[in-house]
Amino acid sequence: MLDKFERTINYLRISVTDRCNLRCVYCMPEEGIKLIDHSSVLSFEEIAEFTKVAVEMGISKVRITGGEPLVRKGIVNLIGMISKINGIVDLSMTTNGLLLEKYAQQLKDAGLQRVNISLDTIDEQKFSAITRGGNIDEVKKGIAAAKSAGLHPIKINCVIKKSIDEPDALDVKKYCEENGLEARFIYEMDIEKGEFGVVHGGSGGDCANCNRLRLTSDGFLKPCLFSDISVNIRKVDYKEALRFAVEQKPACGNSSTSHKFYNIGG
Ligand code: 5AD
Ligand code: SF4
Repeated sequence: MLDKFERTINYLRISVTDRCNLRCVYCMPEEGIKLIDHSSVLSFEEIAEFTKVAVEMGISKVRITGGEPLVRKGIVNLIGMISKINGIVDLSMTTNGLLLEKYAQQLKDAGLQRVNISLDTIDEQKFSAITRGGNIDEVKKGIAAAKSAGLHPIKINCVIKKSIDEPDALDVKKYCEENGLEARFIYEMDIEKGEFGVVHGGSGGDCANCNRLRLTSDGFLKPCLFSDISVNIRKVDYKEALRFAVEQKPACGNSSTSHKFYNIGG
């Protein structure tokens, strides 16, 4: 699909839940969030059918996000349903890694190709503070499991405050070099204030070359993370929703008050 600004839109990010087993300080308030009612969360059938239509219209890259996608019950089955759709050349997931030790092999067997794992520091205490109680050992075990399952390449998402040279970022970079992982550095963003920047080592934040659409777990298709434009895929025909989102995709985002990281998956 081509948008008004001649960008080829071929990448769909699907948030399968707004729930998470961590509470990262930059993402969620400590007390948690007002969760989307179970009844409004898209079913696997809805997600798979929508994805099929999107692929027919030109989507070839799909990423599963959250919240934390691995807390969605039956997630391996959903991966199986999506991986069977003809025309997806890249099927990936962004996860905090906590449940990867349990699921990596099953995900690979179901057809997931690769994972991005969030890791902002390699210091045990700092990790626990940033995630409000997470255990870094579980992430490390998750990374090892992803490796042995062949979910390759493994990319590490590291959120940075000011620069890619800050101590935690340098530690993560070194850890990645030592362990055969690809590091990506993401400036901490504020969606409501419209504060965002390009991702070092990745493709996010580069509006002129943005190829993405996003589907929220409650069924809103959004052309841009930093805009309130969205269409409810339950209210219109899937094709029409996709055409609308591509047509309305802004040249560049500014801010969004309608969605947050935990329901749009970054
Ligand atoms: N700024 C930048 N990245 C964020 N993420 C979550 N919240 C923010 C934020 N405010 C990232 C996580 C994870 C991905 C899902 O989104 O670190 O890698
Ligand atoms: Fe959960 Fe990811 Fe948000 Fe952390 S950044 S609270 S792991 S969704």
